[in-house]
Amino acid sequence: MGPRRLAGKHMGSFRWGRRGIPFSEGDTIASALLAAGQDVLSRSIKYHRPRGYACGIGKCASCLVTLDGKPSVRACMTLARAGMQAQAQNCWPSAQRDVYALTERFMPADFDPQRTLTRPRFLIPVYHAVVRHMAGLGKAPRDAAPPRIAAVAQEKVPLVVVGAGPAGLAAAVAAGASGVEVLLVDEAPWPGGRLRREGAMLRGGRYDGRTPAQALGTLRDALSGSNVRSEQEASASGIYPGKLLAVASPRRLREVTAQAVVLAPGAPEGLSLFGNNDRPGVMSASAAGQLLQHGILPGERVVLVGADARAVGIARSLQQAGAQVEAVLAPEEAMMEGLPRRDASLVEVEGAQRVRAVKLSDGTRIACDVVVLAEPRRPAIELFQQAGCALAEQGGALAPRCDGARTSVPGVFAAGDALRPGSLEDALAGGERAGLEAARALGRKVDEARLAALGAA
Ligand code: FES
Repeated sequence: MGPRRLAGKHMGSFRWGRRGIPFSEGDTIASALLAAGQDVLSRSIKYHRPRGYACGIGKCASCLVTLDGKPSVRACMTLARAGMQAQAQNCWPSAQRDVYALTERFMPADFDPQRTLTRPRFLIPVYHAVVRHMAGLGKAPRDAAPPRIAAVAQEKVPLVVVGAGPAGLAAAVAAGASGVEVLLVDEAPWPGGRLRREGAMLRGGRYDGRTPAQALGTLRDALSGSNVRSEQEASASGIYPGKLLAVASPRRLREVTAQAVVLAPGAPEGLSLFGNNDRPGVMSASAAGQLLQHGILPGERVVLVGADARAVGIARSLQQAGAQVEAVLAPEEAMMEGLPRRDASLVEVEGAQRVRAVKLSDGTRIACDVVVLAEPRRPAIELFQQAGCALAEQGGALAPRCDGARTSVPGVFAAGDALRPGSLEDALAGGERAGLEAARALGRKVDEARLAALGAA
């Protein structure tokens, strides 16, 4: 029980500790490990609780591994390559069977080594050495030569678009078509964001008569040969006054100064609160969609939490892919036809190493091997906060306060789910609007009728 590969062309294998792990085309380290039955990818820092593939989009640190000697690499955001050596960190002898996990049995939940391990005083250095050995996020290589990282480079571009999901791609295409030179950066190994995940997940979806996969193909075609320079595995890790961005790639760091910036960082799902919500097998809808995209069924017996149309689409897609949907935990009857709806909330997940069952608030227990959380998404606001943009409460979460796509900071625009989580259509239209508004702010002539139709201010 657990994830199972449905399709995929074998491309080679890499090492996970002493084990060889086969991978297919497009696999990340995490998806290949899951398909090979390796559910526990890492351990929590303090209590060494098992952690697995949880968000699937690089937002939770549940899948950190040591890769070719480099600690704390996100397995869900790193493409598998033949010959690489990955291993679990912060555990002994393995992530699956970690002796240090005994600490959870003996230490109280509020155990604080700084306050507790103070007597006798002469043993304090020993305590420190032991705690340091057991805690942390991997070890820096001692003997290896320091990695050769190029000096920080400076660059100036008229427009930087952050995020290559539907909104970021649409913004870059629209601005590029208006004659603006654009740098599009995205931290994932591939462009597309939700278009890829939901292309696999919501198979019936259409945008202007196209499937998400077709919409992504159209956008990528529009990018090639345009004014847009597109970079994957390039993360905008900070934005500073003067629209100066720190852009980190695997082997270099750049200071990029832009005249205008479109921020489209998306909106990851919020975390649900219930017992053992960190157990391997509990994953966000994005993670489940990403696995389907890799040709992997997240589990055979699914409990799904969520009540909106997206959750229903996910449940049906998992059924189509061969999973048994045991329950959809949703308070509303709407759209649940043919699905086993339960009007109850999830209290606790059972299973020592991975999900085996869930306990519900109505006292029932359901056996399952995966829990998919289709919770409301929350705008990723960190870059907006750094840029000094005003925020406003929206649907229970904070989002940048905007006039059209314009934030309160001149020259900084917002697009897509980061502005307002919505459908793919909304994200694509919002991205195009932001791209056109940014182009107009840079003095380009844009199609005002199109902008008006998109609802620009
Ligand atoms: S960061 Fe990889 S699963 Fe969340």
